Amino acid sequence: MAGEAEQQLRAYVEYLRDMGVHDFYRQGEPVYAEAASFAAVDAVTVVEDVVATQSLPTKPSVVERQVASVPIAVPVAPGPTASVPSRPQFLEPPIAKLVSFDDLVPLPATRVDAAHKAEALIGIKAEIGDCTRCPLAYAGRRTIVFGDGDANARLMFVGEGPGADEDASGIPFVGKAGQLLNNMIQAMGLKREEVYIANIVKCRPPANRVPEPVEANTCDEFLLQQIDVVQPQVIVALGSTAAMYLLGVKQSLSALRGRWHSCRGAKLAVTYHPAFLLRDPRMKGDAWKDLQMVMGEMGLKGATRG
Ligand code: URA
Repeated sequence: MAGEAEQQLRAYVEYLRDMGVHDFYRQGEPVYAEAASFAAVDAVTVVEDVVATQSLPTKPSVVERQVASVPIAVPVAPGPTASVPSRPQFLEPPIAKLVSFDDLVPLPATRVDAAHKAEALIGIKAEIGDCTRCPLAYAGRRTIVFGDGDANARLMFVGEGPGADEDASGIPFVGKAGQLLNNMIQAMGLKREEVYIANIVKCRPPANRVPEPVEANTCDEFLLQQIDVVQPQVIVALGSTAAMYLLGVKQSLSALRGRWHSCRGAKLAVTYHPAFLLRDPRMKGDAWKDLQMVMGEMGLKGATRG
């Protein structure tokens, strides 16, 4: 019962986040030390509240109250037997400022030619190495999920961050949300191998929480390089986290959907994250409209029947 209630509460919080409600559990500017992940939430108190009311909380303030009072989720350095490296102190202030990928660095003067893109991506992966640049390296990640697909893709999807299935396999979007993304790609008349797929962060955030700014802003130099190498014609930002970091704006999805943005020389469209669509399938029609806008731009006719 308690497990089910916790799951419902988590789904509710994720639903609000996907609708673009980013901050209801924060006070002030986002700061890593204040990142009260669900792993750190005093789940018993939360669940007791939910169980007591026998239903989902109707107001975010329930969550706000509970999460605001939980101990701060500062990762603890692993003991001598742990296989992960011991965690250095992240003393530098988190980069809370939002900067669009276009404003981070100018576009490269020379672009990688088609024949060398795959090789260039391997180079970026090698540069990442066994990354310990941000706190996610010490938060239980198993695999760095670099990216997947055609180095010469015309279409690139960017999600939020790996989940459990991706952390286990090292490939983005292979879980349930990934299956839905595959269907979306197929409906557009493409194969998964023909597109490129990556995430804002390459390591799984604990308990699938939203990446913190310091994590996203540390990882984004690699995603930016991947985009600059692939040079897709169109980027689709899946969900509010991807849209927020790629565009450097914090707005609701409804404010960002249905129109073109630009990112690193590509046209960028925003749509719902497949995980959100799994939770609220009624929004699939709207997501399909977004994909049709992309198909129109790319001259795609969609999947042929029969
Ligand atoms: N959700 C994401 O945002 N990315 C993945 O790779 C999987 C699930």
